[in-house]
Amino acid sequence: MDYVLGVDVGTGGTRAVIVDRKGKIASSATCEHIPFASPKTGWAEQDPHDWWKATGEAIQSALAAVPGANVVCAGLAGQMHGAVLLDEAGEVLRPSLIWCDVRTQPQCDWLNSKLGERKIIELTCNPALANFTLTKLLWVRDNEPDLWKKFRHVLLPKDYVRFRMTGERAMDVAEASGTLMLDVSKRQWSEEMMSAVGIPMSSLPKLCESPEVCARISDKGAAHTGLKAGTPIVGGAGDQAGGAVGMGIVRAGAVSATIGTSGVVFAATDNPAMDVKGRVHTFCHAVPGRWHVMGVTQAAGQSLRWMRDLLQNGGTLTYDQLTREAAQVPAGSDGVLWAPYLMGERTPHLDPKARGTLTGLAASHTRGHVTRAVLEGVAFSLKDTFSLFNEMKVPVNNVRLGGGGARSDLWRQIQADAYGYEVEILAAEEGAAYGGALLAGVGAGWWKSVEEACDAVIEVQKRVKPDAGAATAMKKQYENYRMLYPALKPLFARIA
Ligand code: XUL
Repeated sequence: MDYVLGVDVGTGGTRAVIVDRKGKIASSATCEHIPFASPKTGWAEQDPHDWWKATGEAIQSALAAVPGANVVCAGLAGQMHGAVLLDEAGEVLRPSLIWCDVRTQPQCDWLNSKLGERKIIELTCNPALANFTLTKLLWVRDNEPDLWKKFRHVLLPKDYVRFRMTGERAMDVAEASGTLMLDVSKRQWSEEMMSAVGIPMSSLPKLCESPEVCARISDKGAAHTGLKAGTPIVGGAGDQAGGAVGMGIVRAGAVSATIGTSGVVFAATDNPAMDVKGRVHTFCHAVPGRWHVMGVTQAAGQSLRWMRDLLQNGGTLTYDQLTREAAQVPAGSDGVLWAPYLMGERTPHLDPKARGTLTGLAASHTRGHVTRAVLEGVAFSLKDTFSLFNEMKVPVNNVRLGGGGARSDLWRQIQADAYGYEVEILAAEEGAAYGGALLAGVGAGWWKSVEEACDAVIEVQKRVKPDAGAATAMKKQYENYRMLYPALKPLFARIA
């Protein structure tokens, strides 16, 4: 029987899924990565060879569970923004600086002084942020000059894996958008940016659209993965655009709010919609001819995990118990307020110095109040992105929930109440690897377009409406939330 393969080269591990023509998952397997190394504060490095090893193992195990599977096409998704530096022979020069490595503020400052903040947004649709790939290349240039002399090619994590699978250096435009080297509106590398920073165009891979076949599995790739040599592979996408395809967020007006470790509000758009201050990312979508905007809350699910770990003190406190207690507390948490800036914040403050804050406490408050405040504070932080979308006139017609925030009844309701939209829960949410598989299905000709693929296989199971009673309390509490950051910003700077 024919199948497609989707692979997500994540941070914690690599996941492979084998999907049939009806969009059903026939098997899946995950292989964990060595956790990233953080030799200094703000640094995060992983060894690309480990991703390659994990990809081989994950694909082999997923294939073993479907004997005789004929994989007709493969699609990759992966952690975004990381820089894999290769020499002339295609050998890895150093560990990759990955997406959450933020050592490159001096390189962002240099870019801003050389080009001007406005020009950078004009060229790439985005500001210079320490997460983005170009700043990581500049750090190596500035700090490791001997190694830099050997630098010839840059790839992103999943594209390095593709290079090992096929021998081709290729990247989709959705992924390339997070490098600060792409002219996002034209869906082409920005020659002007590259010449301004003095890095040759020849170091960049060829570009393609996400559902486009861009390479074929080589003999070496086949030996490592168990796929057949010659199997086509499509461009794929970074994990956010890939995940959005997996949730059917493919037409203007469709929006997802996903709470994992971080939180992302993602909207598909017909044009590159930009915020003048660059507070949301403006990237090409994995759908040809479409773009997307997204706002990122750094510590969303992480806020709840952090609080649980803190409160349980080595015990066995479960999320279920915490949310049961929180469900007894009224909307607005009787005035308790949480700002989830445990890891600084991207949207809307772009402030690495921001810090988590719990306030409004009185002696009468219980653990349930604090838990509910954390759930609400994370939703308010995502609501900030909806507020920006409103300012930018990004249409919001339907909102789908994803990640852990979609699995808790209480958090679903809190999100509907905070955002002020009915929210949709999907029958199955399979993440970015599944998006990669759908893109492969389009590449294989199973569906004519990414939209057609999503319409055929993605199913809404449930809708949750905002609660009229809770709405007033939540609105007032959101106004309070909005006052927190401006009031505390000078303090955050002093503490830092
Ligand atoms: C997106 C982002 C993360 C990483 C890690 O901008 O930084 O989604 O791709 O998963």
